[in-house]
Amino acid sequence: MSAHTKLYEGKAKIIYPTDDPQIFLAVFKDDATAFNAQKRGSIQGKGAINCSISSKLFQELEARGIKTHFIDSPAPNQMRIEAVKILPLEVVVRNIAAGSLCQQTGLALGTVLKQPLVEFYYKNDQLGDPLLTRDRLFLMELATVEQVNKITHLALQINEFLKEFFQQCDITLVDFKLEFGLNSQQELLLADEISPDTCRLWDIAAGNDPNRRVLDKDRFRRDLGNVEDAYQEVLRRVLKAVERE
Ligand code: C5P
Repeated sequence: MSAHTKLYEGKAKIIYPTDDPQIFLAVFKDDATAFNAQKRGSIQGKGAINCSISSKLFQELEARGIKTHFIDSPAPNQMRIEAVKILPLEVVVRNIAAGSLCQQTGLALGTVLKQPLVEFYYKNDQLGDPLLTRDRLFLMELATVEQVNKITHLALQINEFLKEFFQQCDITLVDFKLEFGLNSQQELLLADEISPDTCRLWDIAAGNDPNRRVLDKDRFRRDLGNVEDAYQEVLRRVLKAVERE
């Protein structure tokens, strides 16, 4: 495995080919970026923590019939995954108003949404990952109607599972981002990762304290400190919840 063989390097992961064309190796990095990479840093141990959390959550989802790209995790920061072509969509599910939803609508931080909101963003760094309308998504041919309907259904199913799972960890799942890909048989698989980098997770025990409750990448985005500790704490609780099952 060398720098020459990498297939793709993103902000948080490097994807390598393997001897099997149907299998890729994802190596999770400690690098952290925010605000479309305008803010850069490193969170010690993040790669291994996020890979471990994602691996557990993908396995839990698979056990509930949701197809993911996860195969196995040969090392704490490595995941063997089914080779997929990622759709250029960031699918965000929200249960509670935070982040860009508050900025763009004026809703107060922490407003509980009557029903989960599923949003599609165009995965395009140059354009700053803009929010899409359904019509724009189809105009750009980013996915078919059938794919969008299936993704929406899956995103809501995944939300129901994750909400309940994190509740068992004494964590409120505020919102999160998913990515989907197509394998060689054109099957739609959940891909990328589910981790404190891609979710907003609030510690229930911290009550409404807007800084203390944050157990996710907002600690890095907002310079709240103790980022590693928060990520480690999420991993600890996820492992405990999986063990209890
Ligand atoms: O910034 P915004 O409020 O739209 O983010 C919604 C959710 O999606 C957050 O949990 C955030 O961490 C996640 N997200 C992500 N990658 C992006 C944009 C948002 O993981 N490029």
